[in-house]
Amino acid sequence: MSDTNLTGVEKVYVYEAPVRLWHWINMLAIIVLGVTGYFIGNPLPTMSGEASDHYLMGTIRFLHFSAAYIFAIGFAGRIYWAFFGNHHARELFYVPIWRASWWQGFIDELKWYLFLKSEPAKHEGHNPMAQLAMFFMFVLGSILMIFTGFALYGEGTGPGSWANSLFGWVIPVFGQSQDVHSWHRLGLWIITVFVIAHVYVAIREDIMSRQSMVSTMISGWRYFKDKR
Ligand code: HEM
Repeated sequence: MSDTNLTGVEKVYVYEAPVRLWHWINMLAIIVLGVTGYFIGNPLPTMSGEASDHYLMGTIRFLHFSAAYIFAIGFAGRIYWAFFGNHHARELFYVPIWRASWWQGFIDELKWYLFLKSEPAKHEGHNPMAQLAMFFMFVLGSILMIFTGFALYGEGTGPGSWANSLFGWVIPVFGQSQDVHSWHRLGLWIITVFVIAHVYVAIREDIMSRQSMVSTMISGWRYFKDKR
């Protein structure tokens, strides 16, 4: 669906409602997971009194696990939507490195970011650099976090629990429990670096490339603020 209004601003419908809803719920879940995960890995100084009275780490872990369920179910729903949504809904899950045009677009985009090109390319969906970062850092990063996270969770819920039955095998694959903790912890920083870059480039492109970014994830429509 695309449209040109009377002022010559061209627009195209990119992100359908389920993708937009997922994006913002996922953002909130990642903030909760990142902050609570950080404190699980680097706990606060011991508080006086009975731990069960203030239940501080218990609450932090409870928030982590609640957000983890939202994050994992959201990710599964997002995979479902890749099959049933529009073609933009699939862009997150693959990088078409077999296409020469994709590489050309990637080099063009890199030049644009390095200020070696004065005119930005117009993209209805993700630009090739975004697609690469989203796939390798976000999609693979999320899979790492879900598999390692539920494997650790399964250690707590114990043998016979669904988490242990489904994800228990992950622990010997990585070595032992502490290795899984370390990979899960590394994932925090992979996702954190992605989030910082993602927010920076979205705002930068919104301003510099004259094509809407942030509002597109709210309304679904991408506006090209000049003629293509
Ligand atoms: C964006 C996603 C996530 C981030 C950034 C994140 C971050 C973290 C971090 C930094 C730790 C501390 C690791 C350590 O030093 O031992 C942690 C612990 C943990 N996370 Fe996550 N996590 C995420 C997703 C998940 C998911 C999907 C689950 C699934 C249930 C999960 C379950 C756990 C468990 C069980 C622990 C260990 C808790 C403990 O030892 O008390 N996490 N997480």
